[in-house]
Amino acid sequence: MGERRKAHDPARRGRQIKPGSGATFGADPVLRSHPRILFVTSEFADYVKVGGLGEVSAALPRALRSQCDIRVLIPGYREVVSRLSGVETVSHLPSRGDIPACDLVRSKTRDGLVVYVMLCPQLFERDGALYNDATGRDWEDNDLRFARLGLAAAQIASGTGDPNWIPDLLHLNDWTSALAPAYLAWNGRSIPSVLTIHNLTHRGLFARHRLDRLGIPHAAFDINGVEFCGDISFLKAGIFYASHITTVSSTYAREIVTPEHGCGLHGLLRGKLEQGRLTGIINGIDESWDPLTDPHLAQSFSSDNWQGKDANAQALRKTFGLAVSRGPLFAIVSRLVHQKGLDIAIEAIETIVRQGGQIVVTGKGESELERSLCQMAKQYPGKVSIQIGYEETTARQMLAGSDFLLMPSRFEPCGLTQMYAQRFGSLPVAHRTGGLADTIQDGVTGLLFGELSLGGLLGAIYRSLDVYHSPSRLRAMRKAAMARPTGWNDAAANYASIYNSTLTAA
Ligand code: ADP
Ligand code: GLC
Repeated sequence: MGERRKAHDPARRGRQIKPGSGATFGADPVLRSHPRILFVTSEFADYVKVGGLGEVSAALPRALRSQCDIRVLIPGYREVVSRLSGVETVSHLPSRGDIPACDLVRSKTRDGLVVYVMLCPQLFERDGALYNDATGRDWEDNDLRFARLGLAAAQIASGTGDPNWIPDLLHLNDWTSALAPAYLAWNGRSIPSVLTIHNLTHRGLFARHRLDRLGIPHAAFDINGVEFCGDISFLKAGIFYASHITTVSSTYAREIVTPEHGCGLHGLLRGKLEQGRLTGIINGIDESWDPLTDPHLAQSFSSDNWQGKDANAQALRKTFGLAVSRGPLFAIVSRLVHQKGLDIAIEAIETIVRQGGQIVVTGKGESELERSLCQMAKQYPGKVSIQIGYEETTARQMLAGSDFLLMPSRFEPCGLTQMYAQRFGSLPVAHRTGGLADTIQDGVTGLLFGELSLGGLLGAIYRSLDVYHSPSRLRAMRKAAMARPTGWNDAAANYASIYNSTLTAA
């Protein structure tokens, strides 16, 4: 495809192409009223997820459907392939370097969202987790696996994917799809792209000697390219080549341009910010987070009727084998990883128990954290209880039954769990960082602490105990938290506006 014609040619403005009008390859994207967007992600909660990315990827494209012709591209993991129905093969995507060729198939979710799936059994159909094996070690070929995803997106955008549908813009997410704009640039294609950073610490780093196997031109191993501190970084390349960068809260957008949170990429990101090419957009949450209608709960409730909240607390104590108690019930619902500051939460458990509190924990992750939490449960039977693993029903019941959610994250790009907790009247006790700072109003919808330390967390825990022992305050805070809005309309409107400005500038 040749260079796209400039959007600011006045003769070309205002003419609108209706969706499906046949204008596909090479059509000027700015002319479409309903632009074609390919949303590329390594997690999609309909089929498979590790954390919040999977949930955002399932919700955001759906919320954007009224404004865009949006489709999703995901890898064909075993869990995906086994759940697909009505699959049509659309093309065979060629190899590059040692990245194998693969089939591209098209499917639809039950509610009609089109999902493209890359079938490449040797890379994706295996036992273990999405990014690592059963022992927790990253898959050795993660470079090939996620270069395959980025390359597929680039090939679809260049017209080798679905001949009947060529996107006007790629929306990429995290390092796992971030090579797409780089492959396009190396092939001389300029197709607008938006890259959303959900977590800057995952930079997709691989040794330089992998350049050839990834089909990366040696000239691109440069500060103005894919090079990062002597390694290849998929995320760095994405940030460098994408037209626009977004991240999932305004505070995190400000944090990542600083040396403290910038993971070495703050200089590049600061440049993007100064050019108006870095935007923070806070995630929404699904409307199913409604305590009046959620079928998973022991009893429904609302801020006009607290009986149901109490019934959920009782049921939760029973499920987790906790003693009957009138004290506060804390919950941790989290991936058990360093990011979440759970080492600090573990140190605070003794104080919570001494003050008459109880704690329920669920999640999985780093074995050291799993071990320490299990040890706490052994040490305080009837007071502390943990379920290693993750199950949606249990997670919802925990947020409905608990009084407080502990979230002392070291950093938190957005965070969904604190928003879920608020809707269920469980007040987050959280570090003032990233999306936590943007979604929790201290003393109103939760309790924030500034200094990330045991002392900082304990200060907020003592404040939460004061709230708990003042029933009118507790009720007022729960009410304010539960009144927080749900839904994805605001986020979708912001992304649609970024798509439009990116297409217009292309
Ligand atoms: P993150 O994506 O960093 O884990 P978020 O708060 O954005 O944090 O999203 C967490 C989402 O993942 C929530 O929906 C939560 O219920 C879910 N979740 C938490 N722990 C696990 C886990 N161990 N496995 C799968 N999903 C989890
Ligand atoms: C990442 C972040 C989390 C965010 C989620 C969805 O997993 O850690 O804060 O909510 O992505 O954007």
